[in-house]
Amino acid sequence: MSTKKLWGGRFTETGAKYVDDFGASIGFDQLLAAEDITGSLAHVKMLKKTGILDAADVDQIVAGLEKLEQQLQKGELEFSTVNEDIHMNIEALLTDEIGPVAGKLHTARSRNDQVATDFHLYMKHQLPKVLDRLHDLETVLVEKASENVETIMPGYTHLQHAQPISYGHYLLAYYQMFKRDMERFEFNIQHTDISPLGAAALAGTTFPIDREYSAKLLGFSDVYHNSLDAVSDRDFVLEFLSNASILMMHLSRFCEEIVSWSSYEFKYLSLSDQFSTGSSIMPQKKNPDMAELIRGKSGRVYGNLMGLLTVMKGIPLAYNKDLQEDKEGAFDTVNTVLMSLHVFTGMLATLTVNEDRMAHATTNDFSNATELADYLANKGIPFRQAHAIVGKLVLDGLKKNRPLQAIPLAEYKEISPLIDEDVYHDLDAKVAVERRHSLGGTGFDQIKLELKRANAQLAQYQSLNSES
Ligand code: ARG
Repeated sequence: MSTKKLWGGRFTETGAKYVDDFGASIGFDQLLAAEDITGSLAHVKMLKKTGILDAADVDQIVAGLEKLEQQLQKGELEFSTVNEDIHMNIEALLTDEIGPVAGKLHTARSRNDQVATDFHLYMKHQLPKVLDRLHDLETVLVEKASENVETIMPGYTHLQHAQPISYGHYLLAYYQMFKRDMERFEFNIQHTDISPLGAAALAGTTFPIDREYSAKLLGFSDVYHNSLDAVSDRDFVLEFLSNASILMMHLSRFCEEIVSWSSYEFKYLSLSDQFSTGSSIMPQKKNPDMAELIRGKSGRVYGNLMGLLTVMKGIPLAYNKDLQEDKEGAFDTVNTVLMSLHVFTGMLATLTVNEDRMAHATTNDFSNATELADYLANKGIPFRQAHAIVGKLVLDGLKKNRPLQAIPLAEYKEISPLIDEDVYHDLDAKVAVERRHSLGGTGFDQIKLELKRANAQLAQYQSLNSES
């Protein structure tokens, strides 16, 4: 491979190796090798179609690029920091392969639109993978929710027992969050599915190129309509990082609950051995490492978002070398998100619920206090007054260690003659959950309606994505 710089014409001195090493991105952007070759193939085919290059030259270049593509698949391509980045490495390898005609490939193109094209292609390939993983997670969530419509647990606010809810309803809350995540990533695809190719360095080109043709060959739905924007826009990456950050925040909250709820104190959940680890010193330990790790990985994803936002905030139009810093955080985020979703889904699928323990947590507490206040309000007592009456009963109950359902009817009658035997029915935790028929509430009928909607949404995703 030649060691002369492709841009070396106007230089009389060569830089020191450590300077070259510092400027090189080949260490990480070789991940874009396949996209770079694909982008070049589309570009050169466009040069042929428009008559900018001779058919014979183009055929030679295409054959050379296809050979490199095969070598890449076999892991036979070797890259070097002398050639700085993936774009110049591929061009140098092509030159080794087919000689000086390779130099015609860069007609009407710059590395600035080239790197943007590669990155768009890369994200366009990765986003559907994220959607598929989210769909897998949602499928498990909905399955688990259907199995647990009538599993009663305390609902919390401020981590204090608030009102009893269904565990299925709790799971479906996460379904809604992940569904919004999917919608965000789907929208992200729209801003990714645009071709910057042909914007050249920053100003377009005098060659009679056909940008729509190369975009079509690459499977892009649209082209950038401003060449400055095309080469300097990284919104599609920022959107990905910010969508990924919100997704990781959701996973992290869920993990936090899994960690707490599998503790000795809660014992609501039990992680399978496959997704737990032991301790090197304490033989009894079964640690929720995977949940903790996913919770922890949210930090690096937020970091990657902050990193790129900071890179972008001060750079003037159009391309600046700062933009080379756009890649590692994005690659790392793709990997982190895909792995986190995969592990989380497996962990959730094998998680067992201790229904008795969950239900028991609602039997001796005061999470049915609202039921009593509502009962009194239904009998015509203003809700504020009912609230105060029940508050006093709770205070007394706490002193006597006696829950509301253990108060004898005679005592209730003293408080109000309007209270009858049926109060005990209303105070039952399961009844309290079952009766919450308000739209989107934890009532069993509402959960079943939401399960139906969720199943239809999952099936729709499936049918749309098996067609393509
Ligand atoms: N390696 C560069 C990057 O990742 C490619 C574009 C370089 N263009 C330039 N004019 N220096 O951003």
